[in-house]
Amino acid sequence: MDRIRITGGAPLNGSIPISGAKNAALPLMIASLLTDDTLELTNVPRLADIQALLRILGNHGVDHLVAGKRPGQTSETGQTIRLSARTIIDTTAPYELVSTMRASFWVIAPLVARLGEARVSMPGGCAIGTRPVDLLIMALERLGADIEIDRGYVVARAPKGLRGGEVIFPKVTVGGTHVALMAAVLANGTTVIENAAREPEIVDLAACLAKMGAKISGAGSKQVVVEGVPRLHGASHEVLPDRIETGTYAMAVAMTGGDVLLENTHPDLLRNALEVLGETGADVISTNEGIRIRRNGGGIAPVDVTTDPFPGFPTDLQAQFMALMTRAKGTSRIRETIFENRFMHVQELARLGAHIRLDGDAAVVEGVEKLKGAPVMATDLRASVSLVIAGLAAEGETTINRVYHLDRGFEALEAKLGRCGARIERIRG
Ligand code: UD1
Repeated sequence: MDRIRITGGAPLNGSIPISGAKNAALPLMIASLLTDDTLELTNVPRLADIQALLRILGNHGVDHLVAGKRPGQTSETGQTIRLSARTIIDTTAPYELVSTMRASFWVIAPLVARLGEARVSMPGGCAIGTRPVDLLIMALERLGADIEIDRGYVVARAPKGLRGGEVIFPKVTVGGTHVALMAAVLANGTTVIENAAREPEIVDLAACLAKMGAKISGAGSKQVVVEGVPRLHGASHEVLPDRIETGTYAMAVAMTGGDVLLENTHPDLLRNALEVLGETGADVISTNEGIRIRRNGGGIAPVDVTTDPFPGFPTDLQAQFMALMTRAKGTSRIRETIFENRFMHVQELARLGAHIRLDGDAAVVEGVEKLKGAPVMATDLRASVSLVIAGLAAEGETTINRVYHLDRGFEALEAKLGRCGARIERIRG
């Protein structure tokens, strides 16, 4: 298994191109199942999760074509993928495929909406607490699907098609909102989604669905209204920038010091996290090309943070922020309200010398003068990258094992950090 070796202590200086968002690309690719025309997606990141989803879609009969490079494109230009779900040959998503990535469960919505049936394995994914699908199922039921749980599979049936309805989420769920949207666009009649997730990735999916002929209003607000249409057509859509990758590199610079321009991204995607970064003492400057992050000299101020659905502080940046706080001049409290078991990075950060105590749903981080490199183990996607950030700021050598988690969500991580002066390399094997 590959490892990443970092020799810490170097500040980051230069520019980092931000990739298309994994969490937008996945539902957009799944939306290709809604039409028998071709859906073209540009700015798709090169990630293991994208490859895994292509395999899952391929199993349903979706053809894909990854376009070759065009003049002027660099290795940092995202991929263009054309997806064609002209003929669906199989409405089952098997355990072997779905268990590798939780978001693949969402195929259930377009399959039942377009074909009247779907049989999808209960999902797997990052080990960050129980992540049920009860609300996703509830949404489908509200739109008229009959649901049966059969030997680890969720079977959804709507032989006469779905019908519009009211979906009220008792808790904000990104996946639930994606599923409700994809089911409602082909349902007969009007659907009202209440307490919808407001994440930018939801807005991006809604924008793409609208290009495909869907009638959606209110995406990005708590109430989304969908007027069902009989069929959708092909479209071309550019995946929005990855706000979690943006925030991750911003935190890396805030921790190591230096001056980095994060290109092809914009601050509206993560206002709250950027404000918090500013409070820690980093300069956050919006430019026409992206977001510039700078910290020179001054120390890191401790800031308390609570994760929340968008527009709050993202749970997907909690681990990275904790890494930053391990070197703060004082004590900070980080509360996790979205996932109950998302503190697995704590014990690994402690191996680097961090002082962190868990207190219910919060971590209390007492900043230390310095971290010291050590071998550590990646446990999930965001936790892994928090160890990279800590390693960049630690004295000496840090080796991160099990980096396949990183490959699921961070495109060209070593190259992007390396060109800004980080001493980071991948050891194959
Ligand atoms: C998505 C993101 C993930 C992010 C998370 C929260 C993708 C591919 N993944 O995951 O990176 O960390 O949003 O921003 O976009 N819940 C239920 N029942 C359900 C569904 C969810 O109780 O049926 C709970 C979850 O356990 C969790 C909360 O709702 O406590 C939010 O989860 P949700 O927003 O659905 O996360 P995902 O869509 O899986």
